[in-house]
Amino acid sequence: MRLAEKVAIVTGAASGMGAATARRFGKEGAKVVIADMLEAEGKAVAADVVKAGGIAVFMPLNVTDEANWVKVVADTVALYGKLDILVNNAGISGSAVNDLLETGIWYRVMDVNSTGVFLGIAAAVPEMKKNGGGSIINLSSISGVVGQTMVHMSYNASKGAVRTMTKSVAVQYGPDNIRCNSVHPGLMPPMRTSGATADPVVRAKMLRAVPLGRNGEVDEVANAILFLASDEASYITGTELLVDGGYLAM
Ligand SMILES: NC(=O)c1ccc[n+]([C@@H]2O[C@H](COP(=O)([O-])OP(=O)(O)OC[C@H]3O[C@@H](n4cnc5c(N)ncnc54)[C@H](O)[C@@H]3O)[C@@H](O)[C@H]2O)c1
Repeated sequence: MRLAEKVAIVTGAASGMGAATARRFGKEGAKVVIADMLEAEGKAVAADVVKAGGIAVFMPLNVTDEANWVKVVADTVALYGKLDILVNNAGISGSAVNDLLETGIWYRVMDVNSTGVFLGIAAAVPEMKKNGGGSIINLSSISGVVGQTMVHMSYNASKGAVRTMTKSVAVQYGPDNIRCNSVHPGLMPPMRTSGATADPVVRAKMLRAVPLGRNGEVDEVANAILFLASDEASYITGTELLVDGGYLAM
């Protein structure tokens, strides 16, 4: 098993790519903390992992709340003894507003998608240092690399911040054997909070820009996260793994 004896926190693991990652981690032998604001859905994912023979628990987490982060990391270490892997996956979309210059959404998206990732790193790094190292995987996006129509620029800015803070962590905590990489999904099944980009007509048009000619699947992103979390990626840090069907190669 590729994550035997590892302890992992996956944020936003009640849904989508986070849930797929938690399930995959469970099958690979990790003890998984499913951290999300959606309690019923998160508990259902934890139950699935256990049913499949894995070890998992749900912990409520709002990634924008520093005290909540401190509690989740402390509870994880109390329960499973250490922290090896953090997947900062929780996020909200920037495509649910019509006014692309609205200011309110700027703060909400930056708070969840960027500050939430920073707070997770800040809470996890001290425990990883104590543990002799760790692996942090941050979910950015193709939106963290290029601009897009129909998406509020807060989303691009928040994912761009994730992309570069990943490199800061790699540089600053490499000497502590903490690796940090970003994963950049392309056109995936819509997020719970998606607006315009969930419209089938819009999606059909967007698909024309994908060389592989189809949506990505959540398990295809989970596979990439698994690789970076595992010791197979032991010399990989500060890099960006595009999982976009070739979108950014065009
Ligand atoms: N779906 C896409 O097309 C796509 C593409 C590229 C990148 N991404 C990124 O991948 C990640 C996962 O997206 P998804 O498609 O699985 O979305 P999703 O909407 O299915 O899941 C997101 C999860 O994050 C949780 N979440 C939201 N705000 C939170 C908060 N404040 N605290 C804790 N949990 C919170 C939600 O409850 C949900 O369970 C996100 O960071 C997203 O920005 C998505």
